[in-house]
Amino acid sequence: MNTIAVVPGSFDPVTLGHIDVIARAAGIFDEVHVVVVHNPDKSALLPIAQRVSLIQQAIVDGGVTGNVVVTSWSMGLLVDYCEEVGAKVLVKGIRSQVDVAYETPMAIVNRNLAGVETIFLLPDPAHAHVSSSLVRQVAGLGGDVAPYVPKAVAEFLASHE
Ligand code: PNS
Repeated sequence: MNTIAVVPGSFDPVTLGHIDVIARAAGIFDEVHVVVVHNPDKSALLPIAQRVSLIQQAIVDGGVTGNVVVTSWSMGLLVDYCEEVGAKVLVKGIRSQVDVAYETPMAIVNRNLAGVETIFLLPDPAHAHVSSSLVRQVAGLGGDVAPYVPKAVAEFLASHE
């Protein structure tokens, strides 16, 4: 059986922590679908297509290729995407108890909606303090985000100041 895992998120922008989790998922599952989803609770920095493109560049640069597909979903529930591609598992990165509290209700709802289970993976603790919202803030105020994001993202943000 081909086991497909979906790694969803806003990825606005993708961080080194995200890439770490995607790489770990790619080492466990046959196929990994990284799915960029608009989160209406967050004000966006980058258009969805740009986020997809930056993730694609970052996974190639990071050597995380072969079984990873990057796409976006705007047709309704995330579990509808899972159903469409035959994925039974979502993967989320957990940096701290704060993430557990944020992710747990979503995991339960996704299981209740469609029987899709959520697996939490721990990124390298070196990335525990890194979040897209911090990156957006630092980049927006002219700070250096290179330590927190893949090279492609750092270059993109620097050239769009
Ligand atoms: O990176 P984020 O912003 O924490 O990701 C949250 C996201 C996009 C994964 C979540 O908001 C989501 O799954 N949205 C899709 C809509 C949906 O299916 N909602 C109901 C289940 S949570």
